[in-house]
Amino acid sequence: MSIKIISTGSYAVGKKLNNHMLSKIVDTNNQWIVERTGIESRYIAEDITTEELAYNSCKKAIEKIDINLDEIGLVIFSTVTGDTSVPSSSFTISGKLGIKNAVCFDLNAACSGFIYSIAVANSLIKSINFKYAIVVGAERLSKYIDWKDRSTCILFGDGAGCAILENTCYNNNINLTDNDNFIDIVKNSISEKKIDLELIDTIVGGKYDQKRYLTMNSKYSIEDDDYYIKMNGRQIYKFATDIGIKIIDDLLKKNNISKKEVCMIIPHQANLRIIETLADKSEINLEKWFVNLSKYGNTSSASVPIAMDEAMRNFDFQSNKGRYVIMLAFGGGLSYGGVLLKIN
Ligand code: UT7
Repeated sequence: MSIKIISTGSYAVGKKLNNHMLSKIVDTNNQWIVERTGIESRYIAEDITTEELAYNSCKKAIEKIDINLDEIGLVIFSTVTGDTSVPSSSFTISGKLGIKNAVCFDLNAACSGFIYSIAVANSLIKSINFKYAIVVGAERLSKYIDWKDRSTCILFGDGAGCAILENTCYNNNINLTDNDNFIDIVKNSISEKKIDLELIDTIVGGKYDQKRYLTMNSKYSIEDDDYYIKMNGRQIYKFATDIGIKIIDDLLKKNNISKKEVCMIIPHQANLRIIETLADKSEINLEKWFVNLSKYGNTSSASVPIAMDEAMRNFDFQSNKGRYVIMLAFGGGLSYGGVLLKIN
């Protein structure tokens, strides 16, 4: 059985808040932010909900390929800033997309949420036999930022990104006398699917954040009504650099793949220094690491899918056929995960 990523989409709108503008709000400056993080600006979504951000990224991914919406059986929405609890935002997104009947749920694994969602989708596609799945990560973190806290407000931004997964061994017991079905099958077989990334393996895990290095309370928390993001940056930095190396090593060892065979790494876009440290420690050339955080900041679970969508735009699939892409993330929980993909 083979599961593939066949399309991606991303969406970020709103005010583009650059470091110079931020330095008028808190005691900071462009040089400090760029040197310590690599971030230059971030989107602040003002008149749009998290669900709408997610919906727009999904719409873009769907528009790139020719699929029958009725065959999308699973929608997983990764977020820590969802709009509703019931129905879960995933239902609202699927309804707006025109998907009539799908398993829908929201998933919270903070910045690792998109990777966790890919891992869950991989399992569910196999066990329940879906043809297509949508995995989307979207965040409106600007609503949870303390704009007086310079140690966090410079880091985060809003946005959405998504991937469409296809099960190439889907068994739908097709009745070839059914004309409508037949037309859909022909349409699918002739559609141009530019992205063809085979899902080889996933790793997910977590270590309980007992010391509360990274927190964001629910707005209705009884114990603490302060719902702003709080982070011990130094501790999270250490966790990220240690676990990032372990994810890469484990994925390569488990699948008997050499570093040379990896042509791209798409890491969680938290901090350029973290990415540089990971490149250095893993001895995988920095040029192979896709970085777009200067434009978006850290968008939590939207960060990897936005980066993936941008990375795929000009990617030379032909000359990288047979090589590998690794996606990895780490964050609150403390959660972490990685995905190994093969270019077909
Ligand atoms: O997505 C979840 C995962 N999150 C992450 O991966 C984030 C990981 N952590 C980091 O990226 C970094 O720790 C930060 C970018 C958050 C902070 O960088 P740092 O090099 O660890 O700085 P620091 O917190 O140790 O602060 C160094 C100094 C302090 O001043 P003193 O005590 O040395 O005088 C801070 O008060 O920088 C000061 N500082 C600032 N100065 C100007 C902190 N924030 C700012 C600021 N502008 N925005």
